[in-house]
Amino acid sequence: MRILVTGAGGQLGSAAVARLGGREVLAADHAVLELADRERVEQVVGAFAPDVVLNCAALTDVDACERDPDLAYATNALGVRHLAVAAERLGAHVVHVSTDYVFDGSQRRPYHEWDDPAPVSEYGRSKLGGELELARHCRSWAVVRTSWVFGRRGSDFVSWVLDAHRRGELRGLVDDQTSCPTYAPDLAAALVRLAAGRLPGLFHVRNEGACSRHRFGVDVLELAGRDPSGVGTITSAELGRPAARPAYSALDDRAWRLAGLPPLRHYREALAEYLGDGGEAP
Ligand SMILES: NC(=O)c1ccc[n+]([C@@H]2O[C@H](COP(=O)([O-])OP(=O)(O)OC[C@H]3O[C@@H](n4cnc5c(N)ncnc54)[C@H](OP(=O)(O)O)[C@@H]3O)[C@@H](O)[C@H]2O)c1
Repeated sequence: MRILVTGAGGQLGSAAVARLGGREVLAADHAVLELADRERVEQVVGAFAPDVVLNCAALTDVDACERDPDLAYATNALGVRHLAVAAERLGAHVVHVSTDYVFDGSQRRPYHEWDDPAPVSEYGRSKLGGELELARHCRSWAVVRTSWVFGRRGSDFVSWVLDAHRRGELRGLVDDQTSCPTYAPDLAAALVRLAAGRLPGLFHVRNEGACSRHRFGVDVLELAGRDPSGVGTITSAELGRPAARPAYSALDDRAWRLAGLPPLRHYREALAEYLGDGGEAP
């Protein structure tokens, strides 16, 4: 099986490439494949002729998407169309990654795959656009919505919390946003399973357990052997970011479960592994 991984230089893309060891893989980072460039997408997909395309590329900076919606849509929506069209020409299966931010967060139970999306940000709207483009332009696909991905040392939320705490600058974390932290290597294993089986459909995939950003940050500090007592709570309004975030976007993995696929472990277990048996920071 030949697998093209886009966004291979990113947090999830690199975890997916690591997980795919032994298979024939083209790990295409941003320099190799610009999703918004239709001709380049045709060229790269056509030359490698993959059986499966695993799309981990996206403009993931939620506030940057808010500031530049055209760039967000060019990458997250139109870029997925280009990929879908190129894959369809070859009969390739596409596994595409999407987000909990397609939901507005007004619900108080976890969102499952049959709940109606209603994004509140340009990022969320552009990602929902990508889901729709894939379904319109390609016959064999899976969309995997996930949330709060961590697992890249130096640039994820976990590293940010540890660095800010070390500098004595971590005074407050948001406690009015709730979702499911997801460990990139665990998610990558699920993506590879979907890719290898060419399983079709929409799936919510995340580690077990939901929490606020504040709770997650406290978990990080505790598991790293730090004292979280000085870390208070703030609201999203106080933080004042350009883009709105859903207040509640925990995901129910109903379709995944009903397909008989194994649940991912609890995020705290994955976090403990990532932090290395409660040792010091990534
Ligand atoms: N991170 C999260 O918390 C989270 C939550 C829910 C869903 N997701 C979804 O999970 C997927 C993977 O995210 P991630 O956490 O791995 O993010 P990431 O580390 O930012 O990786 C995304 C990659 O896409 C590349 N990219 C950006 N624009 C591109 C373009 N126009 N053409 C080709 N490549 C481009 C980036 O390259 P450059 O950096 O060089 O531009 C980066 O390497 C995305 O679909 C994201 O929407 C992420």
